[in-house]
Amino acid sequence: MPTVFILNGPNLNLLGVREPATYGYDTLADVEQRCLVRAQALDLAIDFRQTNHEGQMVDWIQEARESADGIVLNAGALTHTSVAVHDALKAADLPVIEVHLSNIFRRESFRHLSYVSLAADGGIFGLGPQGYELALEAMAALIEAAAGEGPR
Ligand code: DQA
Repeated sequence: MPTVFILNGPNLNLLGVREPATYGYDTLADVEQRCLVRAQALDLAIDFRQTNHEGQMVDWIQEARESADGIVLNAGALTHTSVAVHDALKAADLPVIEVHLSNIFRRESFRHLSYVSLAADGGIFGLGPQGYELALEAMAALIEAAAGEGPR
């Protein structure tokens, strides 16, 4: 069964209590639960993680390179700052789908630049936790297409 790493960056551990007007009341555990249910229906295994640390995120993306078939990434604020995350994604050479709970393009201009988008196959933003489920659906299709094509 293909494995998808679902990686979450800084402050996403505070989901549910952090700025609920922007991010909603679901906790990250709620989001993980939704992902587990959806992954099961799609015949995907998931590894769902969160870190507040840039280096940890880079390490996990490097781990995915070895042991995952795709990455769903909500890098939080690292999205807008981290060339290191960008470079790790490029090196991973895996399907990558970017997720943001909020619509980053309706917010401050510093959120309009995404170093993740530059290394991602696609992205979903502004749809709250449902975005993670939609990303898994798209990821299942990308992995299936990649399996038919041989190595990337
Ligand atoms: C976020 C958007 C980012 O700009 C912000 O720094 C976050 C959360 C989102 O899911 O909407 O931490 O990635």
